[in-house]
Amino acid sequence: MLYDVIVVGSGIAGLMSALHAKRAGLSVAMLTKTTPFRSSSAVASGGINAVFSAEDSIQSHIEDTLAGGDGLGNVVSVSQMCAEAPSVIEELLEMGVEFAFNEDGTPKQRPFGGASKIRTCYSADKTGAAITQKLFAACREDGVEIFANHMLLSIAKYKEQLSGVVVLKRSNSHVIAMACKSLILAGGGYAGIYRGHTTNALESSGDLLAIAHRAGLVLSNLEFMQFHPTTLSHGGTLISEAARGEGGYIVDENGERFVDELTTRDKLSRAILLHQKAGHKVYLDLRHLGAETIDAKLPSTKKSALSGAGVDITTELLEIAPAAHYSIGGIWTREDTSTSMPNIFACGECAANGVHGANRLGGNSLLEAAYFGKVAGQEAARSAKKREFAPIDYAYVEKEMRKVELIIGGESLFNINSMRKNLGEELFRDAGVFRSEESLSNALEYIHYLIQKQYGLHCVSKEYANNVELSAILEFKNALLVAEMAVMCALKRKESRGVHYREDHPQKDEQHFGRSSYVSPYGSDYFDVTFGEIHKGGFIYKLKKFFHFV
Ligand code: FUM
Repeated sequence: MLYDVIVVGSGIAGLMSALHAKRAGLSVAMLTKTTPFRSSSAVASGGINAVFSAEDSIQSHIEDTLAGGDGLGNVVSVSQMCAEAPSVIEELLEMGVEFAFNEDGTPKQRPFGGASKIRTCYSADKTGAAITQKLFAACREDGVEIFANHMLLSIAKYKEQLSGVVVLKRSNSHVIAMACKSLILAGGGYAGIYRGHTTNALESSGDLLAIAHRAGLVLSNLEFMQFHPTTLSHGGTLISEAARGEGGYIVDENGERFVDELTTRDKLSRAILLHQKAGHKVYLDLRHLGAETIDAKLPSTKKSALSGAGVDITTELLEIAPAAHYSIGGIWTREDTSTSMPNIFACGECAANGVHGANRLGGNSLLEAAYFGKVAGQEAARSAKKREFAPIDYAYVEKEMRKVELIIGGESLFNINSMRKNLGEELFRDAGVFRSEESLSNALEYIHYLIQKQYGLHCVSKEYANNVELSAILEFKNALLVAEMAVMCALKRKESRGVHYREDHPQKDEQHFGRSSYVSPYGSDYFDVTFGEIHKGGFIYKLKKFFHFV
């Protein structure tokens, strides 16, 4: 199979990039390891930021985003994204996305944390789903070929140039190769590795980061994991920031409000955890909004609270806790979404283009996905038009086939679900909202323990058709590599900034760490973590990995 452009991932970034590459007149395939409606975009509900009101300005949007980013925001990317935000919304409107509207025809907006003006456009509390559905329909209509249940295994190169991808067809566990001239990585982040304490779907295991790293791409800022302050206290189901934007309170068991509900998510998460540590229970109180407002503006929140916690938010308090929500770091990109390898582009949550700095503002992720998705589609199309297909070395396919056979064929020694759960618990405890040298070292030690145990992970079922264990094991192996790199970055950033709060280094250290971190492959078994410059300067750390598939 040959396509000018292959897109991996089917959230808003993937859909938008596929659409724009297709509209540039090219053949485009979009791969998704599940279906487009399981993406994080589809559950990001609260809204999307763009300046529409006369009281607001692009400059304020830029300044708020940079202030939220706590010194690490990329001014060029942020300025581009904020300036283009209104036209992104216009484009989505043209596709039929049903945003809420005022009588004068302007989009309705709600306040979101860290924004100095009311700037978040919305479709009730299901904005991500509303956008995903229309983009999906547009992709189908325009002829993007969509491959559901196709999981990326590796990136194939020929003479150090991209030649295609190696993919697992989950319906029959066949390993196939697909050639492309340009590749767009848009497959989400890794907050799901905090299993049991995450708003993300089970599949959010950082596959693309691990695969990109193995292919030699540079990653950046992996220490910055955003925790969402309001999730169901057991399990982490997202309770949208829309609830606070519409006037919800955060209270304790005495009904006391103890924090500004519209401060940034990092501060709110820390305040909630400290209050809980002091022996309090923490709740979201929406009762004063009234049933009518809740039904009109927070219908999904009402459903989630009822199905996930048995709570009727129109009359009862909803117990909440922070959970891992969004990976700020990812595959390093320039402002035009190009990565450290020619003809490979990245956008959306798996990318680190610098717009979020060290802390993302709510409502900026859907904007980033839509805006940089469009840029990636256009740039990938431009680069595809300039080159020919390169041959795919069959050794890539053989290697992945052997891996699949080994995982299905071997004797199962451990339970994949409990290992995933244990990793999530460990990360939340020791690499969570609060971290320190000691806790992060514990996390790293535990990750290394799991890395050695992974060789005992094999499928209990030996079926090749729809073997869910196979993809779970492949995901877990990727999750371990990403966890190792992220914890290493967090250990090395000996300061507190944005979402990265070190109890042993509570201050910001501009001199040593006022820069992004980079993770670069170093030989085949090592990686470097550097600050400020890729590959050289800063610190160089080498860590032997116990990580070989075959
Ligand atoms: O709370 C939310 O609705 C999530 C939005 C976001 O992550 O931007």
